Amino acid sequence: MDGNGRWAAKRFLPRIAGHKQGVEVLKRIVSACPVRQIKVLTVFAFSSENWNRPSDEVSGLMDLLALALAREVPRLRLEGVRLRFIGSRDNLSLRVRRGLEKAELATAANALLTLNVCFNYGGRWDIASAAARLAAAQTPITEETLSSALALSHCPDPDFLIRTGNEKRLSNFLLWQAAYSELYFSELLWPDFDEAALDAALLEYASRERRFGKTSGQLAQTQEPG
Ligand code: IPE
Ligand code: MG
Repeated sequence: MDGNGRWAAKRFLPRIAGHKQGVEVLKRIVSACPVRQIKVLTVFAFSSENWNRPSDEVSGLMDLLALALAREVPRLRLEGVRLRFIGSRDNLSLRVRRGLEKAELATAANALLTLNVCFNYGGRWDIASAAARLAAAQTPITEETLSSALALSHCPDPDFLIRTGNEKRLSNFLLWQAAYSELYFSELLWPDFDEAALDAALLEYASRERRFGKTSGQLAQTQEPG
């Protein structure tokens, strides 16, 4: 969800105003998922590297998370959304940690949409800590054991990955899981992203041919009836 700061700067607003608008857009996109048969939505909210931002922006983002949880969890619970927080809890304040735990607990029985919020997350952190846990348990490291030790093992690998904000990089997001994801880069700043932009992205996704290493000919054969 990139571009909040630039959205605010264009309006001569403080960066945190862009993050607030970003939360509003996330609410709309979450509501838009079930009717589009999207079962899992994973968003990158705060990276391991975002701690390097000015301290007022970091604390503003922490406050915003706590506030958004307090306000939105009851509605998400009623709407059938299951919240999961992906990332290290180590450097988070007690208030934020409690908020995450409460939100996960309150929505644990929901199954319409799983909303994974990557917060204090980095793809390298995920892979390294999964490998360290396997090594400590003396489990052999294979693609299967590593996959199932990763923080998103409760979900299939993402089919589609959208990055907003006109940047064309992964920035340490889902490094392992995105191996075969279709990538989509939107020029829109995240606070300008809306249902129409989501539909445009999904339309493009529908036109992609996902070969997973195979040839087009092989795919055509497996699609034949019977
Ligand atoms: C993304 O927006 C949100 C977070 C990383 C928390 P940015 O804050 O990166 O916005 P830009 O890239 O400065 O516009
Ligand atoms: Mg950015």
